[in-house]
Amino acid sequence: MGTVTGEQGDIVDLAAMGAEFARDPYRVYAQLRERGPVHRVRMPEGADCWLVVGYDEVRAALNDPRLSKQWTNASEDLGLPVVAAGPHMLIADQPQHTRLRKLVAKEFTPRRVEAMAPRVQEVTDELIDAMLAAPDRRADLVEALSFPLPMSVICELLGVPDLDREAFRHWSNTAIGSAPPAEKTKAAEEVGAYLVDLVAAKREAPGDDLLSALFRATDENGDRLSPEELIGMAWLLLVAGHETTVNLISNGVLALLTHPEQLAALRADFGLLDNAVEEMLRYDGPVETSTYRFTTEPMEIGGTLVPGGGELVLVALADADRDPARFADSHRFDIRRDARGHVAFGHGIHYCLGAPLARLEGRIAVRTLLERCPDLALDTHPDALTWREGLLMRGPNRLPVRF
Ligand code: HEM
Repeated sequence: MGTVTGEQGDIVDLAAMGAEFARDPYRVYAQLRERGPVHRVRMPEGADCWLVVGYDEVRAALNDPRLSKQWTNASEDLGLPVVAAGPHMLIADQPQHTRLRKLVAKEFTPRRVEAMAPRVQEVTDELIDAMLAAPDRRADLVEALSFPLPMSVICELLGVPDLDREAFRHWSNTAIGSAPPAEKTKAAEEVGAYLVDLVAAKREAPGDDLLSALFRATDENGDRLSPEELIGMAWLLLVAGHETTVNLISNGVLALLTHPEQLAALRADFGLLDNAVEEMLRYDGPVETSTYRFTTEPMEIGGTLVPGGGELVLVALADADRDPARFADSHRFDIRRDARGHVAFGHGIHYCLGAPLARLEGRIAVRTLLERCPDLALDTHPDALTWREGLLMRGPNRLPVRF
């Protein structure tokens, strides 16, 4: 791993660090943090941005209303492609954000999530049955479990069992990965058209699923989601629901398999499971940096003056959760530590709406996998793994295991 070079004020070229950076971004972030909380960096995606590191500054930035989520506030110089199929919470500021979040939170309740538990267990069991049937007792865990489980769960929750999963996966990966801008916009347009048809079919035949509930949802003032907002919401929930939890399962299992004493402790006492999942989220969380934020005025962040006018600001969640000022011995994976306060699900008004569902899926997946595969082991050297491109998501492309 190359070290971070360049005087303060230079651009730190993360793109040039390539696969090395993707494999272990933590060391690079930590080196940056030692120099200060705000850095000008070139993203693997190509654009330049301001990167915020360090636990306190990360939390403050996530909570700062001067950083807008609305893409209309982005500087035109950034040349950002359109990547959403419709307006949604994660690209909205108050009061629009509050309005959208209130309407969906009314329906996406803890009760609805709890009610999913038996189905999450059933789907997990089926996937592991299929995995265990492999004659060579080997599998890629991403394909066998990490990807299909959250995808099935989010489709069932929304009531879209017929979603073309491979097509959707392609669109979604393109839109949030490091594809060229034109490809991203094309993917968003295609998925938009696809979702219009999907949502229309659902409206014809509503059920007791979340999407049908969102058609009906109104607040006390009679406000409801417009057709475009319904498409945006479906897109956000489908993307957020499957691009993230896949990495919770993969990164979490990888952490266990590369820390045998932690794995043994968990196998010996599943009472540690809830805590272990929190530590997995802290130690190697699914979302490496926050989604895009834009300055609406010149502002000081951690002693650095960041210009206004729609400059792109990224917040390194992954670094906040490895900041030794907040988590002692922060690079150690320890399922017994108190990992509460991690920012793997973000912080402030955009705090992850799906956190209860993600935790439920993570716990069921990890426990069932360990119970059904007593000899589960990594089937490659950890250094041989390749990682998702781009700064947003963190997870291996494949996770070869044997059992
Ligand atoms: C382990 C899995 C997950 C992780 C680590 C995660 C992480 C995050 C993070 C960091 C944010 C805030 C981003 C920012 O402020 O820039 C967020 C927002 C969001 N997440 Fe998740 N997420 C996960 C799973 C889910 C699931 C399963 C769903 C839905 C089914 C979901 C739905 C959402 C939504 C709707 C938002 C936007 C909330 C808002 O803007 O108010 N997430 N998530």
